[in-house]
Amino acid sequence: MAWESGRIHFGGDYNPDQWPCAVWDEDRRLMGDAGVSLASVGIFSWAHLEPAAGRYEFGWLDEVLDGLASSGIGVDLATATASPPPWLTTAHPEALPTDREGRRRWPGARQAYCPSSTAWRESGLALVEQLATRYAGHSSLRMWHVGNEYGCHTSRCYCDVCAARFRVWLADRYTDIGGLNHAWGTAFWSQRYSAWDEVLPPRITPDGAWANPTQQLDYRRFASDLLLEEFVAERDVLRRLSPGVPITTNFMVMTRFNQLDYWAWAAEMDVVSTDYYPDFADPHTHIEAALCADMTRGLADGGPWLLMETSPSAVNWQPRNPARRPGALRRDALQQIAHGADGFNVFQIRASVAGAEKFHSGLIPHAGTDTRLWREVVELGAILGRLEEVAGSRVEASVAMVFDWQAWWGCELDSHPSVDVTYPDRARALHRALWESGIAVDIVAPGASLEGYSLVLVPTLYLVDDDVAPVLDSFVRGGGHLVVTYFSGIVDRNDHVRPGGYPGAFRDLLGVLVEEFTPLLEHESVHLDDGGSADVWTEDLRLAGAEAVSTYRDGPVAGKPAVTRHHVEDGVAWYIATRTDVDTTARVIARVVADAGVSPVAAAPPGVEVQRRRSGDTTWLFVLNHTDAEATIDATGTDIVTGSAVSASITVAPGGVAVVREGGDG
Ligand code: GLA
Ligand code: ZN
Repeated sequence: MAWESGRIHFGGDYNPDQWPCAVWDEDRRLMGDAGVSLASVGIFSWAHLEPAAGRYEFGWLDEVLDGLASSGIGVDLATATASPPPWLTTAHPEALPTDREGRRRWPGARQAYCPSSTAWRESGLALVEQLATRYAGHSSLRMWHVGNEYGCHTSRCYCDVCAARFRVWLADRYTDIGGLNHAWGTAFWSQRYSAWDEVLPPRITPDGAWANPTQQLDYRRFASDLLLEEFVAERDVLRRLSPGVPITTNFMVMTRFNQLDYWAWAAEMDVVSTDYYPDFADPHTHIEAALCADMTRGLADGGPWLLMETSPSAVNWQPRNPARRPGALRRDALQQIAHGADGFNVFQIRASVAGAEKFHSGLIPHAGTDTRLWREVVELGAILGRLEEVAGSRVEASVAMVFDWQAWWGCELDSHPSVDVTYPDRARALHRALWESGIAVDIVAPGASLEGYSLVLVPTLYLVDDDVAPVLDSFVRGGGHLVVTYFSGIVDRNDHVRPGGYPGAFRDLLGVLVEEFTPLLEHESVHLDDGGSADVWTEDLRLAGAEAVSTYRDGPVAGKPAVTRHHVEDGVAWYIATRTDVDTTARVIARVVADAGVSPVAAAPPGVEVQRRRSGDTTWLFVLNHTDAEATIDATGTDIVTGSAVSASITVAPGGVAVVREGGDG
């Protein structure tokens, strides 16, 4: 179903069941003051909606939804299955998850369930039926919200029931036990299976003896599929009983979470939504925010998506939780919109006073409304209201970056050449180089069509299916520019090395042959002959058609190529064989970008982010000033944040924003 947001939504998780109903009137009044358009209701309300098996209490939710409807606030209604109630796990202890060591995890927090548990699934689906039947026609209903952050706390259960389902999943993938033995490479360490019932999840093994890597990888694939199956089961109840209402679940598209294969999940969504929490201690968190937003837009196939949760100010789950800087909320929210979001929502509307998250900020803070935060919230709501015309427009990019959760899982398996090679590292580095040059980038799945792109970046694609290299090959032959970074193309989908020299799948296209990896020690770094430097990784590389762009001046492979370039028919394939530092990466990418003829969205001073959204002939230029100085950008049109005409240029205050509808003479 194509989702049309119709507006730029503003709101967040709303948990009225944590409050006496006397507070609800004030909630609605304040939501009105803040321009809240969407409230996500009931995410953790199972125990409140069904206090005993089969005894449903919907009265309070009726009242909440009726009240929201009469205040014109739309509802993203949860299926409430995110955390099972105590009566369920008391009656069915087998519904609790089991960890790798065979220990059952106890209730008392949240998401303590085994996704294979029949009791959990049947009770959950019964609740969803009730909710869907009761609220399908409710005038407040805008969207269904299934579960919550699948895989956040329980991504894999290792119980016997899950083991049995794993075997079914494996039999489907490999047909017979011989297929499994081949895929898992069980000739190694006497692991050969004779029958399916010998096959187990990768439970804890003797110290220092790693579990079979393909077994681990398949368990991650299985676990992601298993949770997706549970999502789909709920979604299908909703589709049957509440047709036409779009359905979502909130992903965690962040470079510190990788429990689910979001390419597979995205295909099942009506609305792609994500949670994104900045790390205010990281001075580059705003670049990371841009990356995660681009990733989410990629999952939404370039269409509109929703930022479902972020913190209005501080979170509570870090050792030290800084507040969002004064004035930053507006800019950070508009950044998400600039990258294609049609909504900005937070966790949560009213800060809790009890429970584990009471020190997590809310739109309505503990201190009330005579506060800086609340004033910023009201200002933001007003601005988002003025951005309605942007809804449904799309971001355009001529650069694509390949990102893949399965490659991430593979890359970070144990017993690899260096623990310092982490999957998101080069994705972040390449993305940052583009961000700093004002270049827009789409995130695509491996093997996706590359039509329309002039430049494609492939960071650390360690694990790659056989059908990916041919797509990149024809992209380059057709005149495309490609950049691949080290530890890419190494293994196939079974995590078997592609022999004949690294980087396996991409060796011919890159015109290089790596004889041996020569990773660096901690604190070791190397210098390049063009003044660049690098750490973590080098490799003993020889040219096989490519030319050396730079070579090592020192280190284990002094004199050998570090960065190479291979002309293939009309295109060029670059290879970066080492972990170049920020400046060196920026220089390489600047050269590649110039060669590829890619231009920035608009000329902007360093630290000033520019993005453009388009709908037909109408374009909006977003300017986000992340610096402490005023910035002037060439633009003509109308700044829809302030309503003022812009002729020839616009000056944006430190930390400020502008959204210029371009055109006319200002
Ligand atoms: C996640 C969850 C929320 C809440 C927030 C706190 O995003 O979905 O329920 O726990 O984290 O940051
Ligand atoms: Zn289980």
